[in-house]
Amino acid sequence: MRKAVIAGNWKMHMTCAEAQAFAEVFRPSVEDLPADREVVLAPPFTAIPTLSAALAGSGVRIAAQNVHWEDKGAYTGMVSAPMLLEHGVTHAIVGHSEPRKYYSETDEQINLRARAAQAAGLIPILCVGESLDQREASETERVIHRQVEQGLEGIDPERLIVAYEPIWAIGTGKTCAADEANRICGLIRGWVGFDGVIVQYGGSVNPATIDQLMAQPEIDGVLVGGASLDPQGFARIANYQPPA
Ligand code: 13P
Repeated sequence: MRKAVIAGNWKMHMTCAEAQAFAEVFRPSVEDLPADREVVLAPPFTAIPTLSAALAGSGVRIAAQNVHWEDKGAYTGMVSAPMLLEHGVTHAIVGHSEPRKYYSETDEQINLRARAAQAAGLIPILCVGESLDQREASETERVIHRQVEQGLEGIDPERLIVAYEPIWAIGTGKTCAADEANRICGLIRGWVGFDGVIVQYGGSVNPATIDQLMAQPEIDGVLVGGASLDPQGFARIANYQPPA
């Protein structure tokens, strides 16, 4: 039985003061979380120490939104795995569509990040997904297969999360239909070649869509952007109702 992973990606939101206020409201809602799931939050780098301290002992894990492949060096603006470990970080998002788009991150670089994360003991959350143009050109499967194959070269699938995030569903309010998200997550599992790998769905997940998504057999969790900024809404997502 795969353990569900409910993750929130705060992107470039939340000061330390805001993260502290979020934690105070959110923490009680995860105190009695069922044992079948785990909650992860990815604040901006600057809020990691605050959030990590505010949620210590709650069971909520802390993720970084990216990680560099070197431990140290002349890489202005970057943060390495040992720097994250010092603050109790356990996961690192790699290959999100935003750095792929805005900073031209390549599958090779993303693979280096994932490898460095695993080597340091962090669990990489590899994001993959097609654009609307690619979907309309029937390239969805080819694009995602390539992202999975190149992103995961040399990666141990037992210490890995893959997040299927169709770019057209991110921040648009258009959630991918649950059965289609389920189908793609199943394909990803096959390409990874390990039945136990955790495969998440991400893209406009909210409290109204979570139960239906989590009822899908191939969807082992979610990566939530906008809806993870509201502590009550994210609490509802973390406390999703499993199918009867
Ligand atoms: P939204 O939930 O805001 O669509 O963002 C999804 C996402 O990019 C999570 O990484």
